[in-house]
Amino acid sequence: MKSDELYALLRRRGVLWPTAELYGGAQGLYDYGPLGTALKHRIEEAWSAWFLGLSDDYYRIEGAEILPEAVVRASGHLENFTDPEVTCESCHAAFRADTVLEKIRPEGVDGLTPAQIGEMVIANRIACPKCGRPTLSVPRAFNMMFGLDFGVTGRERAYLRPETAQSSYLAFPRMWEVGRKALPLGVALIGRAYRNEIAPRQLLFRMRAFTQAELQIFFDPERFVVPISTVLDETLPMLRVGRRSKGEESPEWVRVADLRSAALPDFYLYHLVHTYRFYRDVLRIPKERIRLFEKSDSERAFYNRIQYDLEVHLESLGGYKELGAVHYRGDYDLTRHGTGSGKDLSVLTEDGRRIVPHVLELTFGVDRNLWAQADVHIGRDGERTLWKLPPALAPVQVGVFPLLKKEHGGYARALTHELTVAGVVAEYDEAGGIGKRYARMDEAGVPFCVTIDGETVAEDSPQRDTVTLRDRDSRSQDRVPRGDLAVRILKATALPRPPLASPPRRPE
Ligand code: GAP
Repeated sequence: MKSDELYALLRRRGVLWPTAELYGGAQGLYDYGPLGTALKHRIEEAWSAWFLGLSDDYYRIEGAEILPEAVVRASGHLENFTDPEVTCESCHAAFRADTVLEKIRPEGVDGLTPAQIGEMVIANRIACPKCGRPTLSVPRAFNMMFGLDFGVTGRERAYLRPETAQSSYLAFPRMWEVGRKALPLGVALIGRAYRNEIAPRQLLFRMRAFTQAELQIFFDPERFVVPISTVLDETLPMLRVGRRSKGEESPEWVRVADLRSAALPDFYLYHLVHTYRFYRDVLRIPKERIRLFEKSDSERAFYNRIQYDLEVHLESLGGYKELGAVHYRGDYDLTRHGTGSGKDLSVLTEDGRRIVPHVLELTFGVDRNLWAQADVHIGRDGERTLWKLPPALAPVQVGVFPLLKKEHGGYARALTHELTVAGVVAEYDEAGGIGKRYARMDEAGVPFCVTIDGETVAEDSPQRDTVTLRDRDSRSQDRVPRGDLAVRILKATALPRPPLASPPRRPE
């Protein structure tokens, strides 16, 4: 589906809409309606269940969204968190340099200096995308953080956090104290991050306020033992730098056993596999649409040593898009915050070495992934729109319909209540014919529907207290005893967790 068509559908169903729509909207900001909010929370819970399920030593915390200036100075964001911006000297519109250079340089401008970008803009007489005149300026580095006046005097400077990761780094000393004082130690956080994007576009892809789910794993680089033998037979869709430089777009499928090397250590591979599996098995993205895109030295974020982006091919946006990533950040973060705060953030390992822990970061953009769930799983079935959301992510798990409102409505309402109390998200619907009600539920991604009919309520019926359970995907209809419904639906919609694998004591 094209992005406009998909967006129109999501707006009509109350999934999302522009912030301050009443006033014409605000660029890069979106609000979620009931269906969108519930889906977003479900995706967040699925992420938590999967990644915190990887180890008993991974915990989830919350952190303030406003950070004092000292934090973003130490983290490097004040200095480095910039995008090259060009402005039009005729109409004064501002653009990101990579977007205006897109036609002549589709690979983007990562790794180029502002001077090199400027030369390209001028030499190619690039026209302003707004007024069409070739009067674009030389790029300047534009810092993407939102600054705030903090406190009553307004003299203290603070910033909205540009990545949730910073809250986890700030929490490290406290988490070390309250935890087992042992590595690895995982600190996960799901929350808002804010970036003053120069050119917010592609809806949920370049927002100014968005939600990240990030797990920071603090570890000893000499001893981060993972059960690698459990994943050696997995094959991953890799697009490595070498292949990219030959102009390849599609990934090659490589066995994990063949990827093990000093450049791709076991701890990195193990978490890369589980990130890939999360997309394949939990978000149910067809594996042919996924690729793991290696970032080169010049493309990587300033803090990264190894970076593979998880990209998914999205029809609505015409190609592969980054939805998450696995970053090996080395000791960059704790070293910088140690220096910035003047506190010693080193720790003593079990074998008596004093080290600054390294960080492996698993990052995931919740909004982008919500869009991907719409792109990948919404389709047409004749006249109908069908949202084949994975049952575990469905915001509403079952629709409950009385065949006839008057005769079966009371029973259906009581059943809806009973299912809700049992922990099932059930929605009662009595409006219109059964076909219309199925169609509404199909469009909202509801995996099951239950119909209450004469047989369910008749005193003398052999089918008394049984209902028709319809499965959205198979279209099968089963007669199910009322008492079995909740367990059956809860089982089918349970959040998947990674298989239990106790960490080995020694490297394998
Ligand atoms: N802590 C690492 C970090 O923030 P990033 O690549 O800048 O790395 C991580 O962002 C994820 O956050 C991305 O993979 C993407 O899913 C999401 N993301 C980043 N910028 C975004 C934006 N402007 N709008 C929506 N999602 C965004």
